[in-house]
Amino acid sequence: MSVSLGLPRVRGAGPGPSGAPAGTGLMDRHGRRATDLRLSVIDKCNLRCTYCMPATGLPWLPAAQLMSPAEITRIVDVGVSRLGVTELRLTGGEPLVRADLEQIIAGVRSTHPGLPISLTTNGIGLTPRADGLAAAGLDRINVSLDSLDADTFRALARRDRLTEVLAGAEAAAAAGLVPVKINAVLMRGVNDHEAPELLGWALERGFALRFIEQMPLDADHGWTRAEMVTAAEIRHRLTTRFRLTPHPGARDGAPAQLWEVRPAGGGDVLGTVGIIASVTEPFCGECKRTRITAEGRIRSCLFSHEETDLLGLLRTGATDAELAERWRAGMWGKPAAHGMERPGLDSEAYIQPERSMSAIGG
Ligand code: 5AD
Ligand code: SF4
Repeated sequence: MSVSLGLPRVRGAGPGPSGAPAGTGLMDRHGRRATDLRLSVIDKCNLRCTYCMPATGLPWLPAAQLMSPAEITRIVDVGVSRLGVTELRLTGGEPLVRADLEQIIAGVRSTHPGLPISLTTNGIGLTPRADGLAAAGLDRINVSLDSLDADTFRALARRDRLTEVLAGAEAAAAAGLVPVKINAVLMRGVNDHEAPELLGWALERGFALRFIEQMPLDADHGWTRAEMVTAAEIRHRLTTRFRLTPHPGARDGAPAQLWEVRPAGGGDVLGTVGIIASVTEPFCGECKRTRITAEGRIRSCLFSHEETDLLGLLRTGATDAELAERWRAGMWGKPAAHGMERPGLDSEAYIQPERSMSAIGG
């Protein structure tokens, strides 16, 4: 169920101490309810994508500040058992940088056998681990891949690792981590000409490609509205090889707008493509996300300027009920929208959060 922004509708008892009403899951004051948990397991990454990280990397969190597998299992259990979380995505940084990722997945899986668990990864190091991740209980994988050209990949990710990423995506499919989704961010003059080629490549392999509009979340603060490749441009670029028609299925709060793909000259449906237009066609009113950063803090939104510490509370010996209450309080103030959609207000309506994408968890 979704409720439009500006019309808060809340069921249950009156406001608790935080303002969040008791007993209604992860509600916010705009009437949305978060059920989709994105949990970052590490801030560190082995690539340096220009739209995310500075060339020199970032000061990584010390290991002791990261959540342990047991702490992650406990936090996910509080979300699922007490707050209505229905799906989990593990993110980073790069989750595969953690040697105990399989243990994290197995821990969550043992407490919640039916919970859908997916992973967002850059694919480096995935090939030898794909079977083990599936055996631990992982259901699906999203691989980030912005270019099929080795030189362009190196320019964008500042590392020469394309072959490993391609092999990783294939290995995920072979391990049954399907449907394999591919995330691509296009940058003007860098890889935007590759849009049709990326789609052709994905369709041939049965991978579900999703283009993501570049968001102003890079550590270098290099984003400009003029340089961003918009969803409309992406659709236009694809028409050189393909014909797109809106997918008939319900969107149901999903960030990607789905299109059915046929050859440009007509013919059978070849597959689908998703376009995530976070900037030009935002979907904040339908958002179902709740986020936990790698050091165990609740972020109600990618673009929040506030965080609520959950791991610190857990480490003081708090009960599940206390953790749930803190989480609910942290979500109640979720912003209505990010403010980026208003043209001409680059520096006024939108204030970039201090953390970059890798430090938030994608
Ligand atoms: N804008 C859009 N997408 C981004 N990602 C990382 N930084 C940005 C950004 N500034 C993507 C990555 C990955 C996913 C977690 O988020 O490419 O696929
Ligand atoms: Fe690493 Fe992902 Fe950021 Fe690229 S976008 S540097 S793969 S965290």
